[in-house]
Amino acid sequence: MIIIKSEKEIAIMREGGKLLGQIMEQVGKIIIPGQNTFEINKLARELVFDIGGIPIFEGYGEPGNAYPAAICASINNEIVHGIPKKERIICEGDLVKIDIGMRYKGLITDMARTFPVGKVSSSAQNLLDVTKKCLEEGIKTIKVGAKLSDYGKAVERYAKEQGFSVIRELVGHGVGRELHEDPQIPNQATNIQEVILREGMTLALEPMINAGTRYVKILSDGWTYATKDGELSAHFEDTVVVTKKGVENLTRV
Ligand code: CO
Repeated sequence: MIIIKSEKEIAIMREGGKLLGQIMEQVGKIIIPGQNTFEINKLARELVFDIGGIPIFEGYGEPGNAYPAAICASINNEIVHGIPKKERIICEGDLVKIDIGMRYKGLITDMARTFPVGKVSSSAQNLLDVTKKCLEEGIKTIKVGAKLSDYGKAVERYAKEQGFSVIRELVGHGVGRELHEDPQIPNQATNIQEVILREGMTLALEPMINAGTRYVKILSDGWTYATKDGELSAHFEDTVVVTKKGVENLTRV
């Protein structure tokens, strides 16, 4: 069931999303060569608590196998859900993907960015640019009365045009009262049941795009998704709301 948010809930998500966007900007500043992902998690976690939020990934999942950190930090061939660690040092040329979900005044917004560390190869920069554009192309399709399948088609079309592949195992999602609400939002054309967009739907849109093949594997920590072929992957995520006028991006500063 897709939960339509009230004006009041949307106003809170707008406030929380803006704060989350600002936190992401702050976090981006310490993504430099020699930094480790534990420190990045520590800063993000502190910033979330400082503004009165709760990092929603911490403790997410099955008891006994709950996610152990406030953010996901995934590097290069790692796609998403990388666990921050002191031993994980980032280097010049890396692509670092940071994903943060925050509950603020009761409501959740979710966002991710891919950061280039220092000077990255032109192919890495291209993958980053294309993935960002995939999200933009997808967002353009979001409006009252539109078919959600048009979102996935737009993302897939642009990624394939640029010679990249779209991950199928991981999808975007409704968000707000819970981290993962209906509907599921594939980043490609599928035959799952069509959803017609309505005012007040809040969606976490998150294309994950690979430089090589679309295939994924899960690393031995049980959380980290990585590309099967070891090639680079990029990820951008925004929380948006379907409005009368079209769409409003809640997590862009
Ligand atoms: Co998400």
